[in-house]
Amino acid sequence: MHTDRLAQQLSAVVGPAHVLSDPALRASYETDFTGRYRGRARLVVRPAGTAQVAEVLRRCHAARVPVVAQGGNTGLVGGSVPTPDGGEVVLSLRRLDGVGAVDPAVGQVTVGAGVVLSELQSRVAAHGLRFGVDLAARDSATLGGMIATNAGGERVVRYGTTRANVAGLEAVLADGTVLDRLAGLPKDNTGYDLTGLLVGSEGTLAVVTRARLRLVPWLPRRVTALVGLDSPAAALDLVARLRPLDSLELAEFFTAEGLALVLRTSGLPAPFRTAYPVYLLVECAGRRDPAEELAEVLDAVEPGRTAVALADADRRRLAAYRERHTESINAAGIPLKLDVTVPVAELPGFVADLPGVLAGRGRPYLFGHVAEGNLHVNLLEVAAEDEEAVTGAVLERVAAVGGSISAEHGVGRAKARYLHLSRSAAEIAVMRSVKAALDPEGLLNPGAVLPR
Ligand code: MLT
Ligand code: ZN
Repeated sequence: MHTDRLAQQLSAVVGPAHVLSDPALRASYETDFTGRYRGRARLVVRPAGTAQVAEVLRRCHAARVPVVAQGGNTGLVGGSVPTPDGGEVVLSLRRLDGVGAVDPAVGQVTVGAGVVLSELQSRVAAHGLRFGVDLAARDSATLGGMIATNAGGERVVRYGTTRANVAGLEAVLADGTVLDRLAGLPKDNTGYDLTGLLVGSEGTLAVVTRARLRLVPWLPRRVTALVGLDSPAAALDLVARLRPLDSLELAEFFTAEGLALVLRTSGLPAPFRTAYPVYLLVECAGRRDPAEELAEVLDAVEPGRTAVALADADRRRLAAYRERHTESINAAGIPLKLDVTVPVAELPGFVADLPGVLAGRGRPYLFGHVAEGNLHVNLLEVAAEDEEAVTGAVLERVAAVGGSISAEHGVGRAKARYLHLSRSAAEIAVMRSVKAALDPEGLLNPGAVLPR
């Protein structure tokens, strides 16, 4: 169908102001957050609710036009932007931004896919609750995108990934069929878990429009510590000693190289007089003060290597050394970002072997969620002709030590061709069958997750 005619049809559904065809207006929807993935959308369409999403999808389905769903566009694997010549419609879910009433009886809330994480957190805080998943992109990332990628973030050690925090979903299939699983019943064993399947499906099986979220109590007593250490093995030793604490909520890792970049870009003062090879950021939280139990563990650390904060502003200042890695790396260039998990015990060996794997290709910055063995391997200055070889070499090493080529960012288009490193041929065949059953025309996010 000619684009003008499709635009006319979709304007009748969402209103002409919400169908963007002008290249200048489309631009911010066509490039990802790092500037690495760029495409060209046929149109950008901004529906206001589930009925409009269903009608837009129905019309695109009838016209056999592919669709890429997009939330806050903070994705890092090229899964939320159109392809250079795919002619996709970008379906922006940001206007689905309603937050329902908190249900205190079960500790749940229903939200639109376009609700921004920090907005959700401030709405539920009034009820003494929070959403257990938290991440540095909280001021832009939407719940729909977090659900599509099964986002992990910083508090997985305590609350699990997004999937564990979603009690139900409403989603629309490629042909416009609406699936409503919003009841959020804590117990419901009526067949296949469609919610669990759609979480992490990266917009390839359905478009998430609303979600029923599990909330956790907001724990008022918090303590944050930054510890300078000599090696990744020392960081893991400390994590092992912290794990038994009921209050452990966050254990984040970064290195001297990343900290230097953060200090340069942010102007923050150095946290210690001395630079250490690696750092661990820890947060503990409870109804009762967790500072004492944290102090007991940190007593074993050499004096001078620990900064502890109790006041919110001071805790945020310590967290910034870790949270500002992404923006500081982006400010220095367009990174090659490889988000991987290795078995926790393999992490020190993996880090030690990395220079050999990279063989001088790119400048590495390592940070991540060390309690899960989740490392963000960020590489700056990789020559364009080396990118594929470097990606392959790192991901093959991850697979060789029993890890996963995507910990929390998803597969997107960036890693689809490497899926076989983490999934067997039988598993990929099942995934293709599921895709064919839900989206037989292959119109939802083509090229993402499953290799073409
Ligand atoms: C983070 O841990 O800060 C996010 O996964 C973003 C990133 O990896 O850059
Ligand atoms: Zn992360």
